[in-house]
Amino acid sequence: PLVKDLFGLTDLEERISRQFGLKQVVIVPGDSDVSQHTKKELGRAGATLLRKLVNKDEVIAVTGGSTMAQVAEHLTSSTSMKGCWFVPARGGLGESVELQANTIASTMAKRTGAEYRLLHVPDHLGEEAYQSLIQDKMIRELLDFIRKARIVVHGIGDAMVMARRRNVDPETTSSLQEKGALAEAFSYYFDKRGNIIHKMPTLGLRIEDIQSMDAVIGIAGGRSKGEAIASVLRFGHEDALVTDEAAALEILKYG
Ligand code: F6P
Repeated sequence: PLVKDLFGLTDLEERISRQFGLKQVVIVPGDSDVSQHTKKELGRAGATLLRKLVNKDEVIAVTGGSTMAQVAEHLTSSTSMKGCWFVPARGGLGESVELQANTIASTMAKRTGAEYRLLHVPDHLGEEAYQSLIQDKMIRELLDFIRKARIVVHGIGDAMVMARRRNVDPETTSSLQEKGALAEAFSYYFDKRGNIIHKMPTLGLRIEDIQSMDAVIGIAGGRSKGEAIASVLRFGHEDALVTDEAAALEILKYG
């Protein structure tokens, strides 16, 4: 039998994909909250799934975060990805450099032998700056390029953990709390029913772009993220999920 079957993970994968209508679920053993090894395995599984799904000369949009950084670490030079382009899904979000989508996109491209294009947008964009940036010809051209992506690979975070990590201002933080923010993915905050309750002001893929993608792949694990992952799954536009056993058991409770 597969090692997975010994852990009963195949059954868990099937239950989650049925409950949330996903095309594919991959679960690695363990809990990435407490095990760096599990987090690495999550990255490895994410990299394997991505390699399987890409077509030739494809634009692949990615988000940032420590889980996506692990996916990048596990990608290796691959002929199938040589003509691909890695791009960040969204612009500046107040993350540290090593966790930014730009960094992840360029690492992925370098490791696989693919190309990349980066989106340099300042963090915490005000309305005025936003309006003038979207008038810029080069930025517009880049946004059109990013919107060609058919695949997006993204992390999922707990709403309050993410608000803290990005130094979101106190007013926005309390408004997020009032609205019951549980999860964050691609710079949108979700409540427990999977409704979008807040959007961070930046450029990149819009929610309608994400809704019409061929493959939306979420990669997140750790018991503490279970409820957040479930609320992003309720949003209803995920196609595949790569997670760990501890998160999977939590996700089922919220199914
Ligand atoms: O900020 C990018 C991002 O992908 C978020 O959308 C997500 O909530 C977070 O990172 C996940 O980060 P980590 O994998 O470090 O928990």
